[in-house]
Amino acid sequence: MLDNSYTEDYLKVIEERAIKNFLPKVKKQFAEIIKLSISDEDIRYFTLKGLNRAHDGFYYSGCSSSKKNHTIENNEVFGLYMHNLKVLGTTMAFCRLEGLNNYETSVAASGAVFHDITRNLYGNAWANKLNLAHPLTGCEFVKKIPLRGVFYENNKKINYNIKSETRKEISEIVLVHFGRFTEGIIKHFKDEMPSLFEEPNSIQDLLERIENPSKIERIVQYADKVGSLKFASYVPGIKEMHFTEFEQNEPELFKQIKRLDYLLKIEPKELVHKFKH
Ligand SMILES: [Fe+2]
Repeated sequence: MLDNSYTEDYLKVIEERAIKNFLPKVKKQFAEIIKLSISDEDIRYFTLKGLNRAHDGFYYSGCSSSKKNHTIENNEVFGLYMHNLKVLGTTMAFCRLEGLNNYETSVAASGAVFHDITRNLYGNAWANKLNLAHPLTGCEFVKKIPLRGVFYENNKKINYNIKSETRKEISEIVLVHFGRFTEGIIKHFKDEMPSLFEEPNSIQDLLERIENPSKIERIVQYADKVGSLKFASYVPGIKEMHFTEFEQNEPELFKQIKRLDYLLKIEPKELVHKFKH
């Protein structure tokens, strides 16, 4: 609940300031984390290339419009970013548990990065509105990332080239990440997104795919589920996310800004090391 001494307008200004100040740092941190997490070079740069096409709301939105799911810090400004770190780190831990190889882990990590890529198309953390069709629109988003291309990093030109089969695998992780709930979403939105259901992706094929997820798809489904449970407050590799000492007389937004400030001071290397162990 908001403290009475802060008006919504005032908090809105603070939120806008937070977005302005934090957005470049958050984007940089996420890109660094992805570089260290995805060991397959082609999948790594494909993922970074795709990420450049994301709406800024992908970073600064909150997760749950009803606030019935997700932890407090996932439901405030930059909550989706914190959720994404959780899902990426948890996915990598599950891949390790299952003994997946570098290619499979890279596909899973890329799918985890993109699973909520179009979750909030409206990009406003307060008037946060979940895009219910996001498994479908996210799948379309991934399918539009070029299979081959150039990525510039520190003035260095890097060429990447992935197989269409790999892109399909990543896009389908996004498509099925809601598990059995995906079926209802497909049936609800099928007329609005006809391109998704053309051969060879007829609705019947897609429904069958949902019934039989691959091991990698299952891993991201579980990682997302764990990462969206109420009260499951964690980011892999970070000791303290709740910051209980700040709870007195501070609206959640201020606590959130402090959490984010803390998160951004953590070296990506240190975080990713924890993802992998
Ligand atoms: Fe998610």
